[in-house]
Amino acid sequence: MLRGRFITIEGPEGSGKSTHSRMLCDHLRRRGLKVLHTREPGGTKIGETVRKVLLDKKNKKMSAACELFLFLAARAQIVEEIIRPALARGYIVVCDRFHDATVAYQGYGAGLGLELIGSAGRLATGGLKPDLTVLLDVETKAGLKRAGIKDRMEIKPVRFHKKVRDGYLKIAKREPRRIKVIRTTDAPVAAVQDKIRKAVSHVI
Ligand code: TMP
Repeated sequence: MLRGRFITIEGPEGSGKSTHSRMLCDHLRRRGLKVLHTREPGGTKIGETVRKVLLDKKNKKMSAACELFLFLAARAQIVEEIIRPALARGYIVVCDRFHDATVAYQGYGAGLGLELIGSAGRLATGGLKPDLTVLLDVETKAGLKRAGIKDRMEIKPVRFHKKVRDGYLKIAKREPRRIKVIRTTDAPVAAVQDKIRKAVSHVI
């Protein structure tokens, strides 16, 4: 029995995910709620090790399939070790990125088959789905400028990141009940945060 709520924050590079999820968690804690904030890839000892491999610019030769399996490996671990137990204890789990990121980056961005990603993804998540996903949308070039191109994913070409952004928007169109799209380009942080809190208030 999962009693908590599972909220994921998604978006292309430089969409402000980390800032906004931190602000959201502080807000929820101030309201006295039990909150667990984590991120993907990472969130566990194994996942953080995998993250280093994934983001290391020196790993130039990483194949698309290797990349996919590493993201899924980190996910399988965090779901089992952190997310499911926290949900069972009634926590609101806020996770920066989840399965939608794999669909957007490895599916739409890198061109791996969406069906394959769907079934491999179910293996990693055990079928766990977010109650709410906030998709922070940002115009590609503005986002990359804000993120400041540092790691192995960020240095991929602009056309890759454009496909990722379009991919996210397609995913959101298919699941409008679960995914709330909030545009962040040129929007003040406070206004974006207000919209996020409003979306979250509908599921808690
Ligand atoms: P972060 O910079 O948002 O912490 O995420 C790390 C990078 O990994 C980011 O460029 C998005 C990418 N990523 C994928 O390509 N596939 C995935 O499944 C996940 C979770 C992240």
